[in-house]
Amino acid sequence: MRSRNTFVLAIVLVAFAVAYAGLVWFYNSKTHDYALGEAEKLVQTMLLQHKAVHSYVTKVSRPEIYRLKEEGKLYEEYFSPKTMSFTYTARGVKDLFNEHRMKAGLEPIYFKLASNNPRNPINRADELEERILRQMNESALDKYREVVTMDGEDFLYVALPVDPMTPGCLKCHGDPADAPKELVAVYGDKAGFYEQDVKIRALLSIRVPLAGPAGDGARIANIISLVTLAVFVAIFALIAFFVVRFDRQERGILAVNEALAQSNDALARTNTDLEQFAYVVSHDLQTPLGSISGYAQLLKMGHAKALPADGLKQLAQIDEAANRMSALIKNLLMFSHDTARGAMTQPVNLHDVLDEALTNLAIQIKDAGAVVDADPLPVVLGNPTQLMRLLQNLVGNALKYAHPTRPPVVRLSSRREGEQWRISVDDNGQGIPPERQDEIFEVFKRIKDDTQTGTGVGLAICKRIVDLHGGRIWIENKPGNGTVFHFTLNPAN
Ligand code: HEC
Repeated sequence: MRSRNTFVLAIVLVAFAVAYAGLVWFYNSKTHDYALGEAEKLVQTMLLQHKAVHSYVTKVSRPEIYRLKEEGKLYEEYFSPKTMSFTYTARGVKDLFNEHRMKAGLEPIYFKLASNNPRNPINRADELEERILRQMNESALDKYREVVTMDGEDFLYVALPVDPMTPGCLKCHGDPADAPKELVAVYGDKAGFYEQDVKIRALLSIRVPLAGPAGDGARIANIISLVTLAVFVAIFALIAFFVVRFDRQERGILAVNEALAQSNDALARTNTDLEQFAYVVSHDLQTPLGSISGYAQLLKMGHAKALPADGLKQLAQIDEAANRMSALIKNLLMFSHDTARGAMTQPVNLHDVLDEALTNLAIQIKDAGAVVDADPLPVVLGNPTQLMRLLQNLVGNALKYAHPTRPPVVRLSSRREGEQWRISVDDNGQGIPPERQDEIFEVFKRIKDDTQTGTGVGLAICKRIVDLHGGRIWIENKPGNGTVFHFTLNPAN
């Protein structure tokens, strides 16, 4: 794996981990809010239920006792907390309520009327309640609402003051002498007495455990977290899959590039080797050729008279053969040299290049009595030396294969064809037989004619040059009227 791709994957992984941690934190904080909300609802329900019990005792059950007493159906001293004390009744209802909750598998809820001076010891305030009561009597607090931890468990704790004492309350909570006889008989004359008017003597103390709703919330949060995790893992796997695939492709491309670079190097080396080889060979071949033609000359000069006419002719043929071979070697060298080097991307004015080519061909043109002219030619992209060679070879070819009975006329023209320029070299020479047209661009395939001095390399060089310039070269035959060479080149802009 390439380090950049590994890095991308690592970044994505970290981003996902951070996002996931953030989401889990968010879900958990929502769970807490949810648990508090549920607990709050339960507290409200408990309060309403307590109010209902209070109302029932004060509005139904107690008036019923008073009525029975008035009608004389109940004796005047009758007092029972079971029918007449709403605190007693409320506690009983609360105890039964919790019993039912536990049967239903729910946690009991702490609900108490807590007092510092309880009539019933069961109602004695604990430390926290005592403190809250004191604060409420100092009117520093009218409602207590906190999340508290007790014995390692979290509760929503709400405490509200029970209505303050009124003169009516003092009947049973003031001087024991004023209290119903049966009350004193049951509870004694100390507990819950000697209270003062206006004082808040008790708290409605409710603690709802948060564990239940928190557990529900946590379960939901866990499920959502798991789903989130699964989605994240799936997305990450998808990203990883694509990164790995991309990485593989990239590495493939790099490997191919590497291989290409290597074979390019190898090719360049081979080219240099070949060039050197060609140079050495041509140089070494030129020397014996020079000797052959030199000795042929010497033989002719020194022994011309002694030789028969046949011998002289053969001597001339030896000389000519040696010259032709020398030309062939020179052309071969040129072929490999010309096309192996040089930038291909220079703007080249074809007129300039043509002028140079015609200067090189001046003698041949004059000897043949040829006419060479050109329509406007474009500026193309390429290598001036090679393009000069191209035009020189094509014009030279037209001169070489001129028609036996008419002086050569060569005309150059150009035409825009799509993205490229098409250059045409039109001559009135012998023409090329159709069956030979495919092979004339190959090295050493000379147009068959023993009297010509072509070496067979010229057109191959032309093709090579056009190929290197990203163009195409082909022949159009005009049987009996000569040949047109067409080739394409890229424009300079
Ligand atoms: C007819 C008598 C009577 C009257 C009137 C009365 N109470 Fe009570 N009160 C009792 C008895 C009996 C208890 C104890 C019941 C029990 O066993 O919890 C009690 C208990 C309480 C408690 C529970 C705490 C504790 O001391 O055990 C509070 C709070 C209370 N009374 C407030 C009041 C208020 C406020 C009033 C006036 C609105 C009032 N009472 C009027 C008889 C009376």
